[in-house]
Amino acid sequence: MLLAIETSCDETGVALFSEEGTLIKDYVYSQVALHSPFGGIVPELASRKQLEILYPLVKRALEENNIKLSDLKAIAVTFGPGLIGSLLVGVTFAKALSLSLRIPLIAIDHLAAHLFSIFLESEVPFPYLGLLISGGHTALFMVKDFDEYELLGHTRDDAAGEAFDKVAKLLGLPYPGGPIIDQLAQKGNASRYNLPRPMLEENNFDFSFSGLKTAIYLLLKREQEISKEDLCASFQLALCEVLVEKTLRASRLLKVPNIVVAGGVSANSFLRRLFMERAERENIFFPPLPYCTDNAAMVGFLGWVKWKKGDFASLEAEPYTRALFKKATLPLL
Ligand code: KG4
Ligand code: ZN
Repeated sequence: MLLAIETSCDETGVALFSEEGTLIKDYVYSQVALHSPFGGIVPELASRKQLEILYPLVKRALEENNIKLSDLKAIAVTFGPGLIGSLLVGVTFAKALSLSLRIPLIAIDHLAAHLFSIFLESEVPFPYLGLLISGGHTALFMVKDFDEYELLGHTRDDAAGEAFDKVAKLLGLPYPGGPIIDQLAQKGNASRYNLPRPMLEENNFDFSFSGLKTAIYLLLKREQEISKEDLCASFQLALCEVLVEKTLRASRLLKVPNIVVAGGVSANSFLRRLFMERAERENIFFPPLPYCTDNAAMVGFLGWVKWKKGDFASLEAEPYTRALFKKATLPLL
């Protein structure tokens, strides 16, 4: 039995995996209600809440599944990137368990966990392109194996989820903005407002979303009356069109037809439809909805892969806040 823990940001995740690599059960405690009045995550509140929730959640997971501490064979935990206070809660807890139970500690990278979250549902053949779109990151990877993935490009400013959250704030909508914009946009006219498609025509694999947010800020200052539904639909179309078109172009150029879309924004219903509409020979994979946003099931899956390989972490290993990327050698564009 393997225990997995995710505390990189504002979700507390606990999951249990069998030695055969089957997910037994996963639990997520979300702090959305705590941070919503502030319009974004308050790091200090996030870490204090992690501290309060983690131990009872682990206890509940073990009790509800009739698992004793002595049944645990290994413990996998997210080491980064993320908020340092939140990360420290999970990592310290996991180190203490590893030391006291004398079981291996497995260090998981949060971005890698998202990139391989698709395996919780289906096995995707390597290599594939991994488009990781979350609140903290937006990046395109060439994924060759579980321990071999290279960065092709990333956002130069805001992450896609951050753009959803900031635009929602401009419109007076609650945090997190993604799910609510997704809903409102379904009732809106996406061609009502003409918004920029940042970096769509540039010959690279990078993205940029801060200009799109500024365009909306200026539009809101200029126009007396706006339709929130139409603006949400127009914004969503502009952002998703850039993500879809640039990813498909990369796939065709690099001749890698399998594409995995992961991270919180991959839950977006319009993005999923647009990818399916614009794909020709490409196969597009999306993780099941509960595993798009932060969870410990994805940490447990990668933890299980590493456990089988004997890829363990030292108790001296430290959590990290910034992404660790290996850059790909890019072809001439
Ligand atoms: O992966 P995640 O849970 O946390 C990070 O690692 O950042 O992603 C959270 C982000 C938030 O910015 C949220 O607004 C966005 O994912 N999100 C969505 C949707 N659901 C969550 N964005 C667009 N459409 C959605 N349906
Ligand atoms: Zn995440």
